[in-house]
Amino acid sequence: MSSNILDDLLNSVRQFLVDVGVGLNPLTIGVTLFVLLFPPLILFVLALNQKDAPFSPPPGCRKFGLVGKSNLSDQYSKRYAEGGDPCAANRWTVKALFIYPIKSCARLELDQSEVVRTGLKFDRQFTFAQQVTGLPTMEGKVESEWTFITQRTFPRLAKVETEIWIPDPKAPGYSEQEEYVKSEGCLLVRFPFTPDTEFTVEGLKSYGKILAAWMSGKPEPMMEFRVPFNPTQERIKEARYRSAEVKIWREKPVALDMANEVPVDTMEKLRYTLGITNPITLFRIDPQNYRQVHKCAPKSQDVGFQPVVGMADSYPLHILNLASVHDVASKLPKGPKRLNALRYRANVYMTGPPAFSEDDWAKARIGDGLYHISCRTTRCKLPNVDPETAVADRNEPGTTMRKHRVIDKGSKSPCLGMQVTPLTQGEIRVGDEIEVLEKGEHFFKSE
Ligand SMILES: *[C@@H]1O[C@H](CO)[C@@H](O)[C@H](O)[C@H]1NC(C)=O
Repeated sequence: MSSNILDDLLNSVRQFLVDVGVGLNPLTIGVTLFVLLFPPLILFVLALNQKDAPFSPPPGCRKFGLVGKSNLSDQYSKRYAEGGDPCAANRWTVKALFIYPIKSCARLELDQSEVVRTGLKFDRQFTFAQQVTGLPTMEGKVESEWTFITQRTFPRLAKVETEIWIPDPKAPGYSEQEEYVKSEGCLLVRFPFTPDTEFTVEGLKSYGKILAAWMSGKPEPMMEFRVPFNPTQERIKEARYRSAEVKIWREKPVALDMANEVPVDTMEKLRYTLGITNPITLFRIDPQNYRQVHKCAPKSQDVGFQPVVGMADSYPLHILNLASVHDVASKLPKGPKRLNALRYRANVYMTGPPAFSEDDWAKARIGDGLYHISCRTTRCKLPNVDPETAVADRNEPGTTMRKHRVIDKGSKSPCLGMQVTPLTQGEIRVGDEIEVLEKGEHFFKSE
């Protein structure tokens, strides 16, 4: 096969040289071949160059999260449809754990996590926002406000990956003075960006980047930036962070604008990747100013603390029963795709309970922790976005859920999974046992 291609190439070169009348001597053949092969060679060298660009781990930190195969890799197995996991002696257990460090961006899988007031420690402390400007008023005033963005309107957010790096005295470069050590670690953000390709030096380098991505198995080149996970007051002053109101549903918490930690050019490329016309930035919830949760959360006079969240939609923690997902899947119209439980973006995936048994849970023990099961999770269209392709590929599972899962008297939306408020702080691990302590009625409240 390859010798055929070479023969063809040599034959065409011979023919070409005969046609232009310079004759068939080794020198002219050599020069012509060189001219033909030079551009691909340059590209190849450029690609190798890109591939070798060193990725430097944040100093003093190690990568956080599950290493190896996902705990949901066998999620489609029929044995999870029934409830009662034969592998776990019919115990009800935590099957998998996930965080979404930036609201509406890609997930990160864990095998254990610290549980804090706002839920899993690194979950949804950040959100991207766009600056929306209204039309001028009669007096000619123009006002703008920062508004959170989600996959509902910008599905390409699913392509924005995050890593969490946490301080570790054994990690290279560790010192108490290191910025990321002082700020409880580092959030690393990575997104696909295909640079312009044109016939200039920069353009050729872009070809190199694309080829490098392709050689390392990625469909597109990736760009990255890093920000401190929980910046110190010192850092906030030094880098001149600004605080601004950011609109999340009906709330407007004052949050930290992380823009000064991100090169302007990088943020612009991200904006292009997401397909947004307005200016964008990354906000972090201000730990001095968490959003209070009222609605169906436990009352502070009953539990001794005010339930709060970071950038989550409504409650600190979201749990989902794999048997319930299997049940919804069994009712979907026949199609080429299976229902990926990851579409529902839960924190805790559990196995054991029969489908929908969680609908009337009120209080549970998971591992050593106590949890208030605050209300049912009402579902918008977001699960219609395929987390692997970032495309809202069909109106499912939304349509099927509207037929079968409008079950809460307080809401017209379909429900799946439960919203949870931790009553204790501590740890949660994959494999932890789940025990229901109380059951009760639920009635969804939107405010
Ligand atoms: C999932 O979690 C358990 C418990 O931590 C672990 O032993 C198991 O190997 C994990 N992996 C997979 C692929 O299920």
